[in-house]
Amino acid sequence: MRAVGFRGNGGVEVLEELDLPEPVPAPRQVAVRVAFAGVNFAEIQHRRGEFGAPDGPGGVDIPGLEVAGTVVALGAGVSGLALGEPVAAYLPAFGVLKDAGRLREGEDVLIHSAAGGVGFAAAQLARELGAGRVYGTTGSAEKIPYAAELGYDAVFLREGFAEQLAEVTGGRGVDLVLDPVGGPIREQSLTMLAPFGRLVAYGDLGRHEQWTASVWDLWKGNRAIAGFNIGDLARRAPEQIGEYLAEALRLLAAGRIRAGVTETLPLAEAAKAHQLLETGTGRGKFLLSLG
Ligand SMILES: NC(=O)c1ccc[n+]([C@@H]2O[C@H](COP(=O)([O-])OP(=O)(O)OC[C@H]3O[C@@H](n4cnc5c(N)ncnc54)[C@H](OP(=O)(O)O)[C@@H]3O)[C@@H](O)[C@H]2O)c1
Repeated sequence: MRAVGFRGNGGVEVLEELDLPEPVPAPRQVAVRVAFAGVNFAEIQHRRGEFGAPDGPGGVDIPGLEVAGTVVALGAGVSGLALGEPVAAYLPAFGVLKDAGRLREGEDVLIHSAAGGVGFAAAQLARELGAGRVYGTTGSAEKIPYAAELGYDAVFLREGFAEQLAEVTGGRGVDLVLDPVGGPIREQSLTMLAPFGRLVAYGDLGRHEQWTASVWDLWKGNRAIAGFNIGDLARRAPEQIGEYLAEALRLLAAGRIRAGVTETLPLAEAAKAHQLLETGTGRGKFLLSLG
């Protein structure tokens, strides 16, 4: 099996191509021959050591959360999947909006990092779920036209977004904020919530110091913070991820949403995909091809 992994944490130079034994599925597992793997920002954090040192077999970690391919081996007790069947792993944005964010029809949403992989999907899914106005932010002005094409009602530069959002909403703010950035952006976003508004924290792109919200402020301002973490769901409620994925694939097949793939690179160029995400210069979603 070809893979890209790392034996120690660090920059992209720790990534190495590996030739590993074919995995044998344990009971209730399947083996998938991967055709394409999505690159998720969480993999950069994994490589940098933010989730701990490598502890995989042989001291090697193979990052990766999103795959599409075909089933090539079935473990004991697997039902509902057949050899040769095309399969895909998860798309997290659906759960962020509906379950963590409790989005209801007509509500206004603000999506930070609007032109990224999750942002691209979240904007479309918010529309599908009947959101009212959908706003976004990006870290640089060059990305605003790209993000605007994704169907946002307005996209702002993240620096100074609060003033602009206040202006376009007449001071009301929004009902839901999706925040993968953290730090001062999280703090400012909370102040932009309309009554009973929710902020969903699901990333730490800015690598800010942990910030603790004041329960007093939440109480006095009718505001709420929710967390969303697919890793926890995968451990404690994996069937929930299956439901998100099935719904997202149904919308994709019906042509209601688009996959935001901006670049497909061969597996050997995984480091380039990491660099694009890590430096914040990329847009949309990056795939690695294993074909
Ligand atoms: N909790 C979960 O279950 C879960 C699941 C999947 C992903 N995530 C998180 O969701 C976020 C988005 O993931 P993604 O894979 O779709 O990545 P992405 O949004 O495509 O990530 C790259 C973008 O992040 C933005 N960014 C903001 N601050 C940054 C910084 N300090 N350094 C580098 N980039 C920065 C940049 O865009 P701007 O122009 O907007 O700055 C950059 O282009 C990540 O935090 C990821 O960990 C969480």
